[in-house]
Amino acid sequence: MATSKSPWWKSAVIYQIYPRSFQDSNGDGIGDLQGITSRLDYLADLGIDAIWLSPVYRSPQDDNGYDISDYCDIDPMFGTLADMDTLIGEARKRNIRIIMDLVLNHSSDEHPWFLEAKKSRDNPFHDYYVWRDGNEDVPPNDMKACFGGSAWTWVPDVQQYYFHQFSVKQPDLNWDNPKVREEIYKIINFWIERGVGGFRLDVIDQIAKEPDLKITNNGPMLHAYIREMNRHTFGGTDLVTVGEAWGANVDNAKIYSDPSGREFSMVFQFEHIGLDQIHGKEKWDLKPLDWMELKKVLSKWQTGLHGCGWNSLFWNNHDLPRIVSRWGDDGKYREESAKMFATLLHGMQGTPYIYQGEELGMTNAPYDISDYRDIETLHIYRDRLAEGYAEEDVMRSIHAKGRDNARTPMQWDSSENAGFTVGKPWLKVNPNYLQINAAEECNTADSVFAYYKALIALRKKYPIFAEGDYQLLMGDDPDVFAYKRTWKEQTLYVICNFHAKKLNEVIPEEYRKGTLLISNYAEQGSSLKPYEARIYLEQRN
Ligand code: GLC
Ligand code: CA
Repeated sequence: MATSKSPWWKSAVIYQIYPRSFQDSNGDGIGDLQGITSRLDYLADLGIDAIWLSPVYRSPQDDNGYDISDYCDIDPMFGTLADMDTLIGEARKRNIRIIMDLVLNHSSDEHPWFLEAKKSRDNPFHDYYVWRDGNEDVPPNDMKACFGGSAWTWVPDVQQYYFHQFSVKQPDLNWDNPKVREEIYKIINFWIERGVGGFRLDVIDQIAKEPDLKITNNGPMLHAYIREMNRHTFGGTDLVTVGEAWGANVDNAKIYSDPSGREFSMVFQFEHIGLDQIHGKEKWDLKPLDWMELKKVLSKWQTGLHGCGWNSLFWNNHDLPRIVSRWGDDGKYREESAKMFATLLHGMQGTPYIYQGEELGMTNAPYDISDYRDIETLHIYRDRLAEGYAEEDVMRSIHAKGRDNARTPMQWDSSENAGFTVGKPWLKVNPNYLQINAAEECNTADSVFAYYKALIALRKKYPIFAEGDYQLLMGDDPDVFAYKRTWKEQTLYVICNFHAKKLNEVIPEEYRKGTLLISNYAEQGSSLKPYEARIYLEQRN
């Protein structure tokens, strides 16, 4: 528990569910709301406070629900509004809040607004989207869409192009139109009234785009729009709000997460996430992680937001590869390295997020291209081959960074399809479910699951996890990531070896003199074993 003044989400741990891959209840091979409700006891046992649900609204599923055609209804694939109410109610009984994913930068091209908008220039909905004149062969400029091709698509009926930062089925909404903003506030208030606990706001830093200036994120009106939205919806409530902001730096993150509460509780920033790609290129352009850089970046965010903003803490989500495969060791030291990354993150100040299966140490899924389903992966495969890349290089990038790595079905047990479905799963189950699954781990005292559970319990027990300040230790050491957290009469020491080799150097005695709160090894020496992680709590006087 944090101090009485602190909002609940400062001592909370949030669990992300990717609904189509979590639990299928009706055998169609796709996870659904009733499936999630049936697994709430598992999540309560883990000890999390809230669930961020990736989108379950009505959607043609071009981008797995990040293309919404009705913001106030549930897609039949996932269930009904009544199922949603049940989920919210059952979760509440277990002290778990439900956080909805708001995709407000764009809608689906099948949303009634867009169906109207593209009929004629004088249609009342035309101005809900971003249109530019041009002629059929020459788009307004050379901006590219995230999922391949131009960001401009021609509509013959209106003789104009519409702008889309993502797929052609995800037309950008025009936030400069006050009517659009009003509609959005109605949607948000609809969900607040239904009893949700907060919102994750998809690519929110891209809403104030200025395509004529080729500005996508951090447009000039961004913070004005966010503040207006806040005032008309969640401002002044105890809801948690987290904005996805690929363009965030420490300075603007302070604005987003200022304790005055005018914008959001926190943002997802991605500076650490970009450290294994060639600078200035795309995520597919791989380079090995520079560990010193990782220490520097995470430390900068810890000290930069202390006392004047709030951090989100995450390694994983539905767009990112699995941390244990990415920067750890998903072979020999899978458990040790999964626990080490958990220690490193959960020892920091901020709100930790756990992405489904991370608490089991689930790994990447290096499949053949025909087994992947993600729109981004399929596009990059096609585009890069057309640009002349070697197939094996493209596949290496996809195996390292493709989004389906995170989206394979949750591994519940060792029965067929890992207990995810009795039908045919929409995306192949990772064959390692026989070794890595929840049933096994819930019954094993030293499993990755048990370790996450213990870390969550520590955050609840000791306010220092939420409140303490941060100081990097052994900053020049290329193998050890160590830091201390200080609060009142207490100090936490978090010490991690982020490599597979045993270290010879001695960890200073003063870091190790407190009570050992947790470690991924049964015995602790004066130096660190492969991927060893420890947290000590020192109580002064
Ligand atoms: C966000 C989502 C991602 C989606 C994109 C477009 O980055 O996390 O899954 O494809 O926005 O909505
Ligand atoms: Ca289903």
